[in-house]
Amino acid sequence: TAKRRLDYQPPAYQIHDIELSFNLDDEVTKVKSLLHVFKQGDHDQPLKLDGENLTLIEVKLNGKSLQQYELTDEALTLSNLPDECFIEIYTEIDPASNKTLEGLYKASGSYCTQCEAEGFRKITYFLDRPDVLSKYTVTIYADKKRYPYLLSNGNKIDSGDLEDGKHWVKWQDPFFKPCYLFALVAGDFDKLTQSFTTSSGRKVALELYVDKGMAHRGEHALASLKKAMKWDEVVFDLEYDLDIYMVVAVDFFNMGAMENKGLNVFNSKYVLADSQTATDEDYFNIESVIAHEYFHNWTGNRVTCRDWFQLSLKEGLTVFRDQQFSADMGSPVVNRIKNVKVIREHQFAEDASAMAHPIRPDEVIEMNNFYTVTVYDKGAEVIRMLHTLLTPAGFKRGIDLYFKRHDGQAVTCDDFVNAMQDANSINLDQFKVWYEQSGTPELTVEQDFAADTGTLTLTIQQHTPVTLDQSQKKPLYIPVRVEYLANDGSSTTDIIHLTQSQQKLVRDGFDVEPTVALLGDFSAPVKVIRTLSAESLLTIALHSNDGFSRWDAAQTIYSQFIHSLTPNGSTLAITQETITALLDGLLESAMEDQALLAEMITLPSVETLVQQVPKYYVESLHSAREKLERIIISHAQPMFEKQYHGLAFTNYDYTPSQTATRKLRNQLLMYIASTEQGEELVTQQFMQSDNMTDTLGALKAAQHAKCKCFDKLMSQFEETWRADPIVLDKWFALHASRQSEDILSRLDLLMGHQQFNHENPNRVRSVIGSFAFFNSTGFHAKDGSGYRYIGQYLQKLDKINPQVASRIVTPLTQWQKLDEERIVKMKAELVRLLDNKDLSNDVYEKVSKSLGYQ
Ligand code: ARG
Ligand code: ZN
Repeated sequence: TAKRRLDYQPPAYQIHDIELSFNLDDEVTKVKSLLHVFKQGDHDQPLKLDGENLTLIEVKLNGKSLQQYELTDEALTLSNLPDECFIEIYTEIDPASNKTLEGLYKASGSYCTQCEAEGFRKITYFLDRPDVLSKYTVTIYADKKRYPYLLSNGNKIDSGDLEDGKHWVKWQDPFFKPCYLFALVAGDFDKLTQSFTTSSGRKVALELYVDKGMAHRGEHALASLKKAMKWDEVVFDLEYDLDIYMVVAVDFFNMGAMENKGLNVFNSKYVLADSQTATDEDYFNIESVIAHEYFHNWTGNRVTCRDWFQLSLKEGLTVFRDQQFSADMGSPVVNRIKNVKVIREHQFAEDASAMAHPIRPDEVIEMNNFYTVTVYDKGAEVIRMLHTLLTPAGFKRGIDLYFKRHDGQAVTCDDFVNAMQDANSINLDQFKVWYEQSGTPELTVEQDFAADTGTLTLTIQQHTPVTLDQSQKKPLYIPVRVEYLANDGSSTTDIIHLTQSQQKLVRDGFDVEPTVALLGDFSAPVKVIRTLSAESLLTIALHSNDGFSRWDAAQTIYSQFIHSLTPNGSTLAITQETITALLDGLLESAMEDQALLAEMITLPSVETLVQQVPKYYVESLHSAREKLERIIISHAQPMFEKQYHGLAFTNYDYTPSQTATRKLRNQLLMYIASTEQGEELVTQQFMQSDNMTDTLGALKAAQHAKCKCFDKLMSQFEETWRADPIVLDKWFALHASRQSEDILSRLDLLMGHQQFNHENPNRVRSVIGSFAFFNSTGFHAKDGSGYRYIGQYLQKLDKINPQVASRIVTPLTQWQKLDEERIVKMKAELVRLLDNKDLSNDVYEKVSKSLGYQ
């Protein structure tokens, strides 16, 4: 059953203190919880504590055993409670058989927890909602040999040994927190320790826990943590608030990482790195996820969400903060492009599907389904628009007021915008529509120039097409960055504030009609529809002062050329000559920014292309994209090859300049691989590489160009890395995303691999996820075999891990733009899934929505 945002009621009870004790044991783990409960206001409502998969042993009220209570599969309900009381609850759980990786689970020999969003109820009976804030004291008992480290939130206040080989540790977290931030870890690890002194002089111990033997791979994560701590002090005056900050890397984890107070738990792929095993992209992701979780300490933990509909309050804001951090650590333009790709490839697709929802959803069946690109990444774009509208200084004022008002509270998205508004004395009422309205706004732009007066008129219409969840759309407050480019290369910029469905913008003082670049820096998460000449696009691509606009114009050139070769067609007149002029211009201009150049010669992904047109013609879109690739190669191959050789260097280091060079070089190799000399260069790069970026670059190029050497290089890779599952995931993913006739039997083989494990989300994602998301020819095979394969697999996976199954079902639910035959086959698979008696809520919600059943 669905929960609705507008049904929110404050809790009838608060739990100010909780004392937990865990006796960790493979047979049966005993959990004791002592709650200090306070009735809120005058009422006679019972206390309904959430609980799932728990065995209740005993309940005591103020020290006396309680016989009268109501127990269901979902709750323990206590009635007739005094205004203040102590409730003691004894339960038993079975972490070893918990394969959902939610609550307390045991995997690869250690215990760990994941509580967000509603996993705490699988640990003990509690008010499992983010507006119940408590102080935690946690005691953990476990075998000392097997679990030398017993960790929880806050400070270690006591510990001791017991006779039976067990030991115990007691932790206390001085900060009030909601239960989704609770964490417990028990295991044997290698530990790296460093320290950071905050600007006000607090010395913080930084501790990183990794699998035995992996210590050397933890250095980059720790260095990243220090950078993040420093950055938040400099940019937002935000300091860390405990004496200890722990990060634990685990192999079995449903998502990227989790910001539990003082004790982050991470998917090991976002912690472990060295040049031999991790790519530049891995290094980047680690730095960014480490920062993201650290930034949550203020935006998420110190100020948390009132209810889960407000998730974007912490996630949108924290993603924005981690994006700004990454931009400062490396290249702002390349980072911006990375952010925009996520929006255009995945968020626009979500808007176009039955899962369309506002960044603050209205209705949820399974909260885990709403950790989406809309809530996270579009949420971050909405925060970014505030940053643009208010300027960095105004935004900082708003942040200061937000913490002044709400530190220690559980609040709403409106509270955040109100702080921004009040700190800057402006009215953001219309801006708030971004929080309630789903869908991708479209700006249709017309440009007029009166040569006699030198007046330029831009007529902009905004329109948000209806989405499956909302039939009425309002005009939004949209900041549009504009750049007027003159013939001599000079340019001026401006920000237009769109508020109406149609607006005219008049600007004079031009001698000649300028070229107008719109949506610089991607100033809003919208689509722009306008007719631009090839010449104007080339001018922007080669001469704009905004790196994003340059890239965007190049992407438009590529996209429109591709669409013109498909039944969707294009209204822009992009020809082969436009393409070659773009390439010549780029390569001759001796661009200094190699990373931007790499992005500018990279074609838009199929996923991005699909979101630009009404229909996805699978075969025709793929062959059009391939045709453009061939045009590019046949024109630029000698230049590409010369550049490629000129960029060779050794001695890997993760620095912005080295990363940029490798990125460009590997992009060039992608093209060169399909030429005659390609095989040789690919093999050479593979053999000579001293780092994973170039090794993987060679394999990707070989895979893409269907080189004969691919299989040989892949088996060599497998031999080298067969004992290292995180590295092997790259190999799994390359196999699973490969275009080949017999891909399905290859998938079977991959899943029979020694290292494959259906219970490990990383493995499942690299094989099944890579196929469903990135093998569009295999997944969309005309006979429906790809859909069938995924449908059948998900049926099994849903019984093991519903959260992961629900993520992977996404491509199957995004059938809207495909052809009739494929739609029928996809829906048949969805119907089959729905036929399953005990389908999880997670998969049920997405599948039933996508079939229009609710
Ligand atoms: N709060 C975590 C983060 O943003 C992610 C938690 C995701 N939880 C979930 N159930 N999907 O880093
Ligand atoms: Zn987050």
